[in-house]
Amino acid sequence: MNQQGLLIRPVTPVIGAEILNVDLDVLDESTLEEIHGALMSHCVLFFRDQDISIQSQKALGAWFGELVVHPNDPGLEEHPEVMPIHADANSERATGERWHSDVSCDPAPPMGSILRMHTVPESGGDTLFSSMYAAYEALSNEMKKLLMGLTAVHDGGPYYREVNRLIGRDDKGREYPSAEHPVIRTHPVTGRKALFVNEMFTTRIVELPKAESDAVLSFLRKHVQRPDFQCRFRWKPNSVAFWDNRCTQHHAIWDYWPETRSGYRVTIQGESPA
Ligand code: SIN
Repeated sequence: MNQQGLLIRPVTPVIGAEILNVDLDVLDESTLEEIHGALMSHCVLFFRDQDISIQSQKALGAWFGELVVHPNDPGLEEHPEVMPIHADANSERATGERWHSDVSCDPAPPMGSILRMHTVPESGGDTLFSSMYAAYEALSNEMKKLLMGLTAVHDGGPYYREVNRLIGRDDKGREYPSAEHPVIRTHPVTGRKALFVNEMFTTRIVELPKAESDAVLSFLRKHVQRPDFQCRFRWKPNSVAFWDNRCTQHHAIWDYWPETRSGYRVTIQGESPA
């Protein structure tokens, strides 16, 4: 099927759009270009009824860049770059329960992630997405000036070790990625500025004394949660979400225990933030 012209329904004027007329199993070059354009405009895209194979999901991701293996959570045996996202009655935790941009602790954090859910609870299990363009733009000029020259440490160690402790997984003393990134980054495609600190990985602002760094990060962690920067996605079986990690954060809600929520994520290599 040759799909000329995406049908795009924005979820809010700020973030998120549903793409209504695409079969992700059958994609041609011009449709992929349009999906890329829609992602740049809306930051996160949602697709329904996509009963696609792991191979199709990987092919979609690979069009946008190299697929990367998660630094802590093992992928599928046959497909190490495909990460199962799963929680059920026996789980001690669910993935992504705090505001974050995926693996921002990497020196070149992922540009995007594509998640397909095959099993969802009767209700609950929504994912919140927040626009970091909107978060930046809503700051006062004085705060923008202060943040513009600053860099922050994003350390994977504390969060990933806590995950391993919760699920009783021995990490055998392994090292996790840690990197310094600008607090305000410029998106490499749109040229727009976005706030780039998050609750999961950002531990301190390099140029500030600890007390000031703690105060600024505490303000920014609250700021990114403003409802007017957000949209909320209600999953159905075979829904797909594709988000741009360079200008969004997300938060998965684990309100459905003891029910099961299960799917697969591929993660696409990004660049060192500018
Ligand atoms: C994640 O990738 O952080 C998980 C998102 C989700 O489960 O909705």
